[in-house]
Amino acid sequence: MAEPHAEEVIQGHANTAQTVDLELRPEEEAFLLSTTGLPDVDALKALIVRVQAEAAEAFPYPCIRRFDFVKLKMSRLPCYNRLLSLVKDDPDALLLDIGCCFGTDVRKAIADGYPAKNIIASDLRPSFWDVGHKLFRSNPATFPVTFLSGDVLHSTFIGMASPVYGAPRTPRPELRGLRELAPLAGHLRAIHASNFFHLFTEANQAAIARSLGALLAPTPGSMIFGTHVSRPKKGLRTEAPPPAPGYLGNRMFCHDAQSWTDLWDGEVFQKGTVRVEAEVLEQAREDLVVLDPGVKFYQLICIYTKDH
Ligand SMILES: C[S@@+](CC[C@H](N)C(=O)[O-])C[C@H]1O[C@@H](n2cnc3c(N)ncnc32)[C@H](O)[C@@H]1O
Repeated sequence: MAEPHAEEVIQGHANTAQTVDLELRPEEEAFLLSTTGLPDVDALKALIVRVQAEAAEAFPYPCIRRFDFVKLKMSRLPCYNRLLSLVKDDPDALLLDIGCCFGTDVRKAIADGYPAKNIIASDLRPSFWDVGHKLFRSNPATFPVTFLSGDVLHSTFIGMASPVYGAPRTPRPELRGLRELAPLAGHLRAIHASNFFHLFTEANQAAIARSLGALLAPTPGSMIFGTHVSRPKKGLRTEAPPPAPGYLGNRMFCHDAQSWTDLWDGEVFQKGTVRVEAEVLEQAREDLVVLDPGVKFYQLICIYTKDH
């Protein structure tokens, strides 16, 4: 059964983070200006800072402090074009963004042609999704993406089926009226999860991976992809400072490329039925106060596809 969330049991000193300047890449600036309809960058930045304060009240993740909610993640992944091709070939292809936060990544996918009606965004905290509406100046009528609020550690929400290798066991549900992810078992062509798995213990990461694996459609080309904090050798991120509210610090469990590959190819899916591409890259994190100035942080970029 579900453990208490690591994030909720953490107490500590909050002084583990530096103040971060709001810097946008040119493609982020262009995307945000066009989707918000704001007249200029000054107005955009003022709105971002306002919604940041509101989101930090909801939960003080480092990604909120770092303005990660306006940074494009999904579209910068090497397999993003595969996602856009997938929906060209299968116009009904369903995409789930799990741990979607404000929903910035799905909004970018829609701007790039992914049909909004095929997208499910899900997060524990509906308040982040609501702040997303404020940032993008939308509402559920003008931005009708299906949003499901729920906890991936609750089996009734995420389901506990095993991966589907033949035809899905149940008909594809209507997204309208859907309240849980479980009925989608075997129907999702793509699942994006970024900056997400590292929030959980090793055992919970495996449980969530198994549940997400069961949601994936058996159709060749279906994919699960994203990026998470990692280490060159799996284990606790001992090089980080101690935990603080919203920040796991040295209690964060990180996979390495091999352990992550083994989890998906062998534990979640039968060995040899998926192709995993996993790569650990060094990550610049000037925003973190570190114990030793020489410590390095890493991210794991990964994709699993069903191509058999
Ligand atoms: C660090 S943020 C990452 C957001 C986004 N994917 C990104 O890459 O910027 C993690 C997100 O996961 C959500 N989350 C945390 N625990 C969760 C849970 N148990 N079930 C579902 N979502 C959860 C948080 O509310 C938050 O929006």
